[in-house]
Amino acid sequence: MRLTVIGCGYVGLVTGACLAAAGHEVHCTDIDEKRIDMLKAGKVPIYEEYLDEVLKRAEAEKKIFYTADTGEAIRAGDAIFICVGTPPKESGEADLSAIDNAARQIAVHARSPKLVVEKSTVPALTGVQLQKALAAYSQSGDIKFDVASNPEFLREGTAVGDFFHPDRIVVGVENEKSAVVMREIYKPILEHKFHCPVHRGQCPAGTPGELLLTTINSAELIKHASNSFLALKISYANVISDLCERIGADVEQVTHAMGLDPRIGTQFLKAGLGFGGFCFPKDIQAFIHLAGTVGVDFEMLRAAENVNKQRIDRFFEKIHKALWVIRGKRVAVLGLAFKANTDDIRFAPALEVIRRLLEEGAEVHASDPEAMVKTRAVFPTVNYHEDPYEALKAADAALVCTEWKTFRELDWNRAGKLMARRLVLDGRNLYLPKKMQELGFDYHSFGRP
Ligand code: UGA
Repeated sequence: MRLTVIGCGYVGLVTGACLAAAGHEVHCTDIDEKRIDMLKAGKVPIYEEYLDEVLKRAEAEKKIFYTADTGEAIRAGDAIFICVGTPPKESGEADLSAIDNAARQIAVHARSPKLVVEKSTVPALTGVQLQKALAAYSQSGDIKFDVASNPEFLREGTAVGDFFHPDRIVVGVENEKSAVVMREIYKPILEHKFHCPVHRGQCPAGTPGELLLTTINSAELIKHASNSFLALKISYANVISDLCERIGADVEQVTHAMGLDPRIGTQFLKAGLGFGGFCFPKDIQAFIHLAGTVGVDFEMLRAAENVNKQRIDRFFEKIHKALWVIRGKRVAVLGLAFKANTDDIRFAPALEVIRRLLEEGAEVHASDPEAMVKTRAVFPTVNYHEDPYEALKAADAALVCTEWKTFRELDWNRAGKLMARRLVLDGRNLYLPKKMQELGFDYHSFGRP
């Protein structure tokens, strides 16, 4: 099929690349001309494992095209995926102006019927507004637009694998014709007819994810309900972690045992600095806001949000207790990205940690495998080191903020010899307390004795 992707950010690029790899002809556009130029020059503007490879293959097979001419891209596709940003407004409500603008562009430039697919994360009832907007902006009024909602459940860092091996594909439609088109689009994924860069032709056997047909309202709600539940789960684990500290229990033992109950599940129960990124913090706010607009008080989510905000306070309580005075101290921050395997620093806990360290007068030395360029633009006075051991040199304390594999595998014996003081505050519970103590470290983590 011929598809259009509006918005070449993280979601748009992964969606476009993977659908092209699945055999569709994909036309990508973005209002940022520089981004389009970069893509045309073969450069990928974000770091996401395997994305580069999938794009290169799709380009070589002439399955993916980039243009800054929105009209050209819109006319080229029969189904149009809207993948633009929906950032939070001050009130927490999602800012849908980019969706509105995409609707206007589609209505103005389309010359044939289109299925317009919401891929961006949007609050429930956006589909209704989108349908109205397409009709209102259409000059001739004689082109038929259908709307579908197809929320994404990709995780940054594993997005390509998630796209090719989904546990579910949710498609909200309002008629059978749209359902047929959406099934056709996802057929190669469901039938496993694509080149998988993650497993190199050796994908693990298992049942492929189901395509679930729902109403548009339900599809929109599924996205926010899923993300908010995961965020809730993390905050729950974090409160259990605080309890463990008071009682003298071990949060890792507690959450592991809890998770073995299949009704609970082991994932997203990792205690520590809490959740960041551009999804959970903003989605939880947008969901609370949406619930409020229809008279439902989502107090539970507000509590989860507050627990998350307090994680940094808890971390600083530990830092103050262990290091005492921060002013004038040399502090190594290991990990800047909001989680491992991404260069994304949006709402990353590490950024708030650095902001407070600088405010309190620390000399900060940071290291991260991918996120240093982006962080330098926010904190130019921080010292950045490719090599984590360089960051640890002469440090009075090491703060671990992201669960990168290279930090998990760090040689703390070597690091200890470089540091001015053997003090580690681990915001991600990466190491065994006993082992760190044996190595002579004053070691602090979350919820463990
Ligand atoms: C999240 C969802 O997991 C995806 O399903 C969804 O598609 C995506 O948002 C989105 O809406 O686009 P993502 O933001 O990439 O994906 O990251 P996650 O892996 O969910 O992690 C979010 C944050 O929670 C990270 O800061 C991570 O460190 C933290 N986290 C995660 C914990 O603190 N504890 C855990 O047990 C798990």
